[in-house]
Amino acid sequence: MAAESGASAEPGTSDASHAAKPPSRTAEWYRHFGLFEAPGSSACYSEWTLGIADDPALIERIEQWPHHKRQPNLMLAAARFLGAQISPYAAFREFLDAHWTDVTRIVLSRATQTNEAGRCATLLPSFAAIAAADGKPLALIEVGASAGLVLFPDQYSYEFDDGTSVTRLAPARVSGSEAPVLRCTTTGPVPLPDRLPEVTWRAGIDLNPLDVNNPEDVAWLEALVWPEQDFRRERLRQAVAVARRDPPRLVAGDLNRQLLDLAGHAPDEATLVIFHSAVLGYLNAGERARFRETIASLAAGRGCHWLSNEGHKVIDQEDGSNVVPEMAEDRLRGRFLLLHNGKPVAITGPHGQSIEWLEP
Ligand SMILES: C[S@@+](CC[C@H](N)C(=O)[O-])C[C@H]1O[C@@H](n2cnc3c(N)ncnc32)[C@H](O)[C@@H]1O
Repeated sequence: MAAESGASAEPGTSDASHAAKPPSRTAEWYRHFGLFEAPGSSACYSEWTLGIADDPALIERIEQWPHHKRQPNLMLAAARFLGAQISPYAAFREFLDAHWTDVTRIVLSRATQTNEAGRCATLLPSFAAIAAADGKPLALIEVGASAGLVLFPDQYSYEFDDGTSVTRLAPARVSGSEAPVLRCTTTGPVPLPDRLPEVTWRAGIDLNPLDVNNPEDVAWLEALVWPEQDFRRERLRQAVAVARRDPPRLVAGDLNRQLLDLAGHAPDEATLVIFHSAVLGYLNAGERARFRETIASLAAGRGCHWLSNEGHKVIDQEDGSNVVPEMAEDRLRGRFLLLHNGKPVAITGPHGQSIEWLEP
C-alpha cells in the first residue's frame, strides 16, 4: 500500500527507534480510517489519519489514552473543536504538538455523539405510516438521543427525490428561524406521506445528553461534523435553532435502565414510538439482548412501535438468527438497515441522504 511507504518517516520527531517496529493496531486503525472511511467524505481526514498512521511517535501518545478513547473520529473532532483547520498533515501535526494537553483533555472528557437531524428523512415515512394507521398523534422516545435533534421530524422540511420528481413536505407553522430542508433520494416504493405526522410528546435518553442551549455542547456537535461537510454544519445549526424553541426532555442514563420509566410518562392518547439510530454499536451483545426484551415487554404491555436504524452488523437476534435480508454485502456496506418492529423495511443512507424501500 502506498500509504505504508512513509512508515519510517516520523514527522515531528527525531527518534528513529520506532522505525523497526511493526505497525501497531492503533496505526492500522487510523490507516483503515484514512483508506476506507474518510475518502469520499473528507480528503482532509483521509490525509491526516494516513499521516498519523505513519507517525509512530504520535501513535505512541495516542496509545496512552484508554482504548475506547483512541478512535480516529474522537481525536479528530477534539482537534477541530480546538480550532484545527483544513491543512496538510505537517501543519496539523504542528497544531497537535502545540495543543496536545488540550486535545487529551477533550478526548478524555467527550465522546462521539454526532447528532444528525438528516436522519429524520429516512424515519419520516415510517413515522407517518404509524400515525396514519393508528389515526393518532405520536409520542416519540429516542434512545441514544445525543442533543435530541432527531426528535423533531414534524418540524423540519423535506425534499424526497426519486430521480424523476421531487416530493416536498413542510411543517404547517414555520416560526422563528428557518427549518432545515432535509434532502433524501428515494428508490423503490417508499411510502411517502402527503403531510407530516403530528407529534404531541417527545423525549430522549442518553448516557450524556447534550444541551442545545449550551454553546460548548453545540460547538462539540459542530466539531463532530467532518471538515468539508459545510452543508451538514449548516443543517445542524438550523436544527439546533428549531430544538431551542422548545428543547426536548432528555433523561441522562443508560437506555436499558431508563426506558420503561420514561415510557410511563408518554400520554396514553398518543401512539408511542421508540426509535434509535447509530446507537446499537455502543452496546455489547448482552445489552442489545436486554434492550430487545425491554421493547418486547413495552409492546406487550402499554403497546409501542419500534424503529431501529442501524448498521446491519449490530442487529443480531437473541436466538442467534439474523433478520438482515440476503443481499450482496456491498449493498449494505456503509449504510443502515431500517427495521420496523424487528422487520427490515429499508436500506438508508447513514446521514439520511437516501432511502431504498425493500419490497414487502
Ligand atoms: C452516534 S450518537 C447518535 C445520536 C442520534 N441517535 C442521531 O442519530 O443523531 C449515539 C448516542 O448514543 C448514546 N449512547 C450510547 N450508549 C448508550 C446507552 N447505553 N444508553 C443511552 N445512550 C447511549 C451516546 O451517548 C450518543 O449520544
